[in-house]
This record gives sequence, structure tokens and C-alpha cells, in this order.
Amino acid sequence: MTCHNGAVAETLSSQYYSETLIDHFSNPRNAGAMEDADVEASVTNPVCGDSLRLFLRIDGDRIARASFLSSGCPASIATSSIATEMITGLLLDEAKALTREDFTEAVGGLPKSKVHCSVLAAAAVRNAVADWRGRGPG
Ligand code: FES
Repeated sequence: MTCHNGAVAETLSSQYYSETLIDHFSNPRNAGAMEDADVEASVTNPVCGDSLRLFLRIDGDRIARASFLSSGCPASIATSSIATEMITGLLLDEAKALTREDFTEAVGGLPKSKVHCSVLAAAAVRNAVADWRGRGPG
């Protein structure tokens, strides 16, 4: 996983980011590629060029596992990390219905200038479910 650690080190403070966000950025959950993924979605943020790859293992109509690889900023890594936790165990429709605001809220909010960073997680979940639906049994 790569990120802009050096560039943002001085701004990764609790005055700028919530404790939850810092925790998920420092210890991303479900980070890494998934060898046996059923579906993968790659999205790039048009605002900054950062990208996210989301991997899902699907069991019936439910997300059994989720993992991600990111080349994004702390906000995108944290929202991706928490997104993998939130969608695990959900029905595909439930996961698809989650919005960037849901992920933003879950990490304790984002500074205005970083709100666009949560787009990646939401778009990746939507795209992965749509892709799976388009070719799978779900
Ligand atoms: S600055 Fe690119 S996703 Fe946050």
C-alpha cells in the first residue's frame, strides 16, 4: 500500500482528523489484495488522481469478505478501511445503498477539503456490486 505519508504527516493531527480516522489510517483494516476475490473494482478520484482497488468475496447475496489496496491520502485510506468493515456481512443491496456520507460519518467526519476523498470507497462498492450483478449469480 502506498500513500502520501510524507506530504501529510504534519496535518495528520487530531485537530484536523478524528481519532477514528487516524486509527484507520494508521492501522488499515482488511488492507491488501484478495487472492480468491469474486469481484474487484478499481476507481480513480477525478479530483486528485488517487485510486482504490476493492476486492469482494461474495457468498450468495451477501458480502463475505472485503479488502482494499489504496494509493490515496489518509482520508481515502481511512474511509476505504472502514468501508470494508461496514460492508462485510451486508447484503449486496445494503452495501450498494451506502453513500460517501455514511463512510465519512463513520470515520468521524472529514475536513471540507477532504470530503471528495470518500468518493472512492462509495464508488468502488457500487461498481463492484454492479459488476458482480452483471456477470454473477447475485
Ligand atoms: S486527496 Fe486524493 S483521495 Fe484524498
